[in-house]
Amino acid sequence: MNSDNSAKSVLDRVLVMELVRVTEAAAIAASDLIGRGDEKAADAAAVEAMRKSFDTLYIDGTVVIGEGERDEAPMLYIGEKVGGAPGKGPKIDIALDPLEGTTITAKAGPNALAVLAAAEEGCLLNAPDVYMDKIAVGPGYPEDVIDLAKTPTQNVEAVAKAKGVEPKDLIVCVLDRPRHAELIAELRGIGCGVVLIGDGDVAGVIATTDQDTTIDIYMGSGGAPEGVLAAAALRCVGGQFNGRLLFRNDDERKRARKWGIEDLDRIYKLHDLAKGDCIFAATGVTSGSLLDGVKRIKRPNGERIMTTESVVMRASSGTVRWVRAEHRI
Ligand code: FBP
Repeated sequence: MNSDNSAKSVLDRVLVMELVRVTEAAAIAASDLIGRGDEKAADAAAVEAMRKSFDTLYIDGTVVIGEGERDEAPMLYIGEKVGGAPGKGPKIDIALDPLEGTTITAKAGPNALAVLAAAEEGCLLNAPDVYMDKIAVGPGYPEDVIDLAKTPTQNVEAVAKAKGVEPKDLIVCVLDRPRHAELIAELRGIGCGVVLIGDGDVAGVIATTDQDTTIDIYMGSGGAPEGVLAAAALRCVGGQFNGRLLFRNDDERKRARKWGIEDLDRIYKLHDLAKGDCIFAATGVTSGSLLDGVKRIKRPNGERIMTTESVVMRASSGTVRWVRAEHRI
């Protein structure tokens, strides 16, 4: 535990475990809809369960990354107050995605998660719901080994050099989208292995921190809110991340300015996205590289239980806890 984990932080240690209950509740609710082909219903179930679960926490929370803006989301919209102690509890900013991988859940694919990050007020970037170009690596590299201002080839070469291997020895994870055709061709052209994922780039970014996945680098564009959530996770476990917002039209640029973003071409590093002390929590909805999904078990005596697997980490201490829970139905 380092000295940063002090009374100065409003993130109480107890909160670390309490936040897992919130992601567990969302994952359990979404799990009823796994493989049912209904993305909206799965998302709605996770949102409602997460919203309700926040009420049990002694916090004065504000959603800074959520389900959209007030007029487009009934619950967990940006700016919504959450928590059971408004005006009394510690002021905490929350970035959340009750169901990261709505399509994955509807199709019963891998790596759907319920995720959130909590930080002291003002410490998470209020990212608009636009795309973000992303590059990430796990821990152990020299500072600034990746740089979004450089080409994918230059980044791969820098990472390979730092690791003491050839570009052909590196595995890069990319979202399988037509917009990434050029990137994928470039990476394969220099000999990299490319792991294509259908959805879920929070898990994709975190995969770079886990040797078992063999993924060295994450590259490509995905949601900006997911970028902040992934950055919060990397703040806790180590690693590097660069992100640049991508705008498709003036409306998106206007949105960004509304949230106080002036430099639209800025490259954000880890601490620009999530600074200070922060907590990241995730529970698996469907099984994947990071976590097992929700399982329903019926015992011979007729008793029914559900199991969940979660991970919760805190930046100031660097502690990573894996939580396997049994829930009586
Ligand atoms: P949802 O859970 O909102 O469907 O997001 C899944 C996801 O794959 C994210 O992980 C990723 O950041 C984003 O969608 C990519 O967006 P798009 O599907 O438009 O390429």
